[in-house]
Amino acid sequence: MDLYQALYTTRAMRRVKPDPVPDDVIARLMDAAVRAPSGGNTQKWRFLFVTDAAKKSQLQKLYSAGLAELNATQYKSVMDLIRDGDVLDPLVIQAKKTNASAMWLAENLHKVPVLLFAWGKPNGESSLFPSLWSLQLAANAEGLGTSLTTLLFKKHTQEVLDILGAPPVGEWVPMAMITIGYPTGKWGVAKRQPPHEVAFSNTWGNPVSWSVEQPMWP
Ligand SMILES: Cc1cc2nc3c(=O)[nH]c(=O)nc-3n(C[C@H](O)[C@H](O)[C@H](O)COP(=O)(O)O)c2cc1C
Repeated sequence: MDLYQALYTTRAMRRVKPDPVPDDVIARLMDAAVRAPSGGNTQKWRFLFVTDAAKKSQLQKLYSAGLAELNATQYKSVMDLIRDGDVLDPLVIQAKKTNASAMWLAENLHKVPVLLFAWGKPNGESSLFPSLWSLQLAANAEGLGTSLTTLLFKKHTQEVLDILGAPPVGEWVPMAMITIGYPTGKWGVAKRQPPHEVAFSNTWGNPVSWSVEQPMWP
């Protein structure tokens, strides 16, 4: 796969089929992930792949409860917008799409073939996340959809660790769960705020000399 294709099309692909992912494919994803940089090349990361049906079922219940809690608090304004907003407003349409996708995952997490949990050292996010993004790019190249999630570690961390038989938060800090499976849909290029609107030149606030009106790939 072309690198730019992977960069432009890798995005939250939550809806996946229950079909299992072969071990040799998982091995390739992990081998790509550990090529990522880490501060001082310390490689302070641990990964745990969950395919066990009983564990996934327990995790789904926690994930679903976590999303309901978030929707009632942090995402309340978005939920209000979805309920009361103008059905033709592009913001409302996008919010509905994202919410439907997030809800699908919450209701079907136990059917996702592989759940990957990742740990880093305390304050070690910046050394873990490049490896996770590499894994997601490699998954795209393998025809696999992934979605990076952190929701389980907002409220239910200890319960999740108990299910996983993992040590309490301390030396190792759980930071993300990535869902992995063969997608039911197609990859499209993500809509984002254009780069010239979020980049400055030489001094904060100074505009850059270029602009990008449309994604430059394909
Ligand atoms: C740090 C981080 C945490 C995220 N946590 C969640 C999550 O808990 N649940 C979820 O469904 N998506 C999660 N996402 C995915 C984002 O919602 C998603 O990338 C964003 O809506 C853009 O969608 P797109 O990638 O399809 O363009 C997370 C993404 C990042 C980078």
